[in-house]
Formats: sequence, structure tokens, C-alpha cells
Amino acid sequence: VAAGGRLPSSRQLARELGIARRTIVLAFEELCAQGYCTSQTGQGTTIAEISSVQESALSPNTQSFPQWLELESSPALFDATPQPTTPIDIDFALGTTKLNDLPHKALSRALQNSLDHLKIDGTSFDLAGSHGHAKLIELICDRILPMRGIQADPSQVLITNGSQNAVSLISQLLAPYGGSISYGVPGYLSIPWQFTSQGITGIPCPVDRDGMQLIPEVNSARLHYVMPEHHFPTGVTLSPTRRAALLRLAEQQDALILEDDYDSEFYYDRHPLPALKSQDRGGRVIYLGTFSKILFNGVRLGYIVAHPELIRRLSNLHWLINRGSNLLSQLLVTELIESGNLERHLRRMRGVYRNRRDLMAQYLLRRFPQWQWQIPQGGMQFWIELPPDELAERVRECWSQRGIRLHSVNLHYPQSSLKSQHHLMIGFGAVSEAQIHQAFQRFDKLLQD
Ligand SMILES: Cc1ncc(COP(=O)(O)O)c(C=O)c1O
Repeated sequence: VAAGGRLPSSRQLARELGIARRTIVLAFEELCAQGYCTSQTGQGTTIAEISSVQESALSPNTQSFPQWLELESSPALFDATPQPTTPIDIDFALGTTKLNDLPHKALSRALQNSLDHLKIDGTSFDLAGSHGHAKLIELICDRILPMRGIQADPSQVLITNGSQNAVSLISQLLAPYGGSISYGVPGYLSIPWQFTSQGITGIPCPVDRDGMQLIPEVNSARLHYVMPEHHFPTGVTLSPTRRAALLRLAEQQDALILEDDYDSEFYYDRHPLPALKSQDRGGRVIYLGTFSKILFNGVRLGYIVAHPELIRRLSNLHWLINRGSNLLSQLLVTELIESGNLERHLRRMRGVYRNRRDLMAQYLLRRFPQWQWQIPQGGMQFWIELPPDELAERVRECWSQRGIRLHSVNLHYPQSSLKSQHHLMIGFGAVSEAQIHQAFQRFDKLLQD
């Protein structure tokens, strides 16, 4: 029946179909409610004029994509190497932990308490406010930051949905002022990219054993992105001399320093140096902390420590864009800190990671004496330099044929760089000692065969 046509009466249709008239009446009412039909007393039910949506239009193959969007504007800041074809059962993943390593009992107790808290404390049920959950901010100031030598009060802290989210806010706040940002290469390039994609000029700086080099071009930068404790991916620590020079430079040039302190909680042979922020007399350092490594990446919770005026502006932006940070994650982490379980987990994991690191080091030394690396003093990965005749892709392929995944370092170099061809990273956060033994034994077997 075409639009405008009349449906048979409910009585007639019920008779034809041999079902209750009430069912037909309900079906007609539903059609009218959804706008497919109209009904007027005395005139029956008529088909409405609607622009029909073809079923096939919903299939992704036929959906049209705006032409002006066809060219991708962002660089490939993700691992574009093809997935291994052989099944992988040992993954030397980077910056992530094993599911089994998490304190499951403490986590479920904390989650239950968080839900109870939501019931009791109706004021915090909905959103935690733009700065974050007040109790969590207090605990960060009293218990977390002092471990890094930082003294801060709540007006200097903003809770974010992780460091990546923190940088997104900071870049949106600072980009309109223009200028340039210095950063180390190889490095964690997705952070400087957030600035350069918004028109800030990038100043890539080489990284040596003392951390990011302060090359002359750095003098003009308005912002310096550093990972002083463990530069990612090489793991080197910014030397005290360079730290002092950077702080001095920021003062002289009226610049800011973005300190990414993503995994300094994991140290093995010595305590980490105090954060750069702890020496920041002039309020030049924007400090980024995260719970992604202490707990797990998916918790999506981090914090910024900075000058109160910057925090005020970032907090306004955070409200405007994100309506603050995830409340349930905030309550969960608050519980974990308050109960002492976070600290206990951290102490345990330092031991676990140290053992894995030492085991890996023994194997690497024995099996691959030609590879060059320093024992990581902290963090969760080895940075390895291969001899000129060995290619990283070949090594990765060879391991992957034995069910072992090594991740590419391509993401941490500019696309044009050839250096990535001779470097490897091997994470030890997400593999058990048994898996490390297994991985290297597969090589022994290969040699014997
Ligand atoms: C060096 C570095 N900085 C920042 C981040 C982002 O941390 P988040 O998970 O808090 O966004 C990561 C995550 O792996 C990282 O490796």
C-alpha cells in the first residue's frame, strides 16, 4: 500500500489472519506512535508520508564518506606493522602489566567500597567537579607527591583521565599562544604531536646517556617536554647538570617545562632522583603523574601539578570538554591509597619486575652478546642497539615465528629516521618469569636442532 493508502480495518485483518483483534489494534497503535501511520476517528488508519530509509544504506559498504575528509590529516602515530601471522603466546609488551599481577582482592574490595560510597555520599554521586574528587587530591598531596619530593597543596592539582588527557588539555590551553616545543628523539612522540598538530613548532633534540640534549635551538622554546627519570624509550635519566640547566633556561626564557613522570615508581637499584618539579622554585614546571603504570592503563587516571593559575584555567577547560574525570576510577584509587593497598602493590611489583629484569638480562647477555644495552635502573623495558648488520624487523620476524612478540620502535622515531632499523625494545612488565624462560629456551632448541 502506498503513502496515503488506508490499512484494512482491525476487525477485518484480525479475521483474515485468525488472531485476536486486540493484537491488531496494538500493532496499529505502535505504527502510529513510530510515525509510520496516522489514525483519525472514523477514517481508519492511513500510511504516513515518510522518507524511507533503505536497509542497505545502513551497511558500512554503501555509506558515503565526505570527500573532503578522505585525506588523513594526522600522521601514523600508531604501530602500522602488520600483525604477526603465527599465533603469539608470549608478548613482550611495553608499559603494561600482567593481568595476574594486579591485586584482584584489593581491587574488588576498593570497588565495592566505592559503590557504597556513592550510595552514602549523594553529593559526589554524579560528577566529581572539575578539579577532581577532593579526597583523592588531598591524598595525592599528602602521600603520593612527597614520594617524588614534591610539596603541593590542592590548588595546584588537577585530576585528569590519564596523562594523555592532561596533555590534550595543556596543548589546547597553550597552542593559541604559539611558539615552539622541544622534545627528545627517540621519544614518546604522541605527546609533542598534540602540540605540533595545533601549530606549535617542534624542536626535536637528540637523546644521549644524560637524557635530552639542550641543543642551541632549545633556547627559543616556550615549552620543553621531558621525562627526567626514565626517558621513553631509551630509559636514560636526565643528569643533574641538565636538570639545573633546563630549570635555569626556563626561568631566563620565561618558558614552561612539561615533566612526564610516568613510571618512576618502578626503580630497582637506587631511589629515583627527586622530580624536577621538586626543584621548581619559579613555578615553571607542569608535572604529569599517572596511575596507568602502578595499576593498569585502562584505569585512565592521572594528575597535573602546576601553578594554581594554570590549574584554574586547565580545570575550566577540563570541565568544558570532559565534564571532569571518571568518578568511579577516582573513588577506586582513593580507596586503594587510603587502605595502603596501592603502596603494598607497588612494593611487591618492584620486586617482581626486578626479578624479571634480572632474568632477562642474564639471557640477553648469554644468547645475544653482540647486542648493546644498559641494565634498566627502573621502568619496564630494555632498550637494545643491534649491530649494523642486524635489522630489527628481521629479529622481530624471527621471534614472531616462534610465537614471541617484540614491539616495533618505529613509533618513537620520526618517520624519516633510519635509526629505528637497528633498535629493539623488550618489555618485561607483562611476561612472567616462566614465559621469559620459555622464550629463550625456544632459541636454544632452534640452535640444538
Ligand atoms: C612516556 C609516557 N608518557 C605518558 C603516557 C600516557 O599515560 P596515560 O596512560 O596516563 O595517558 C605513557 C603511556 O604509556 C607513556 O609511556
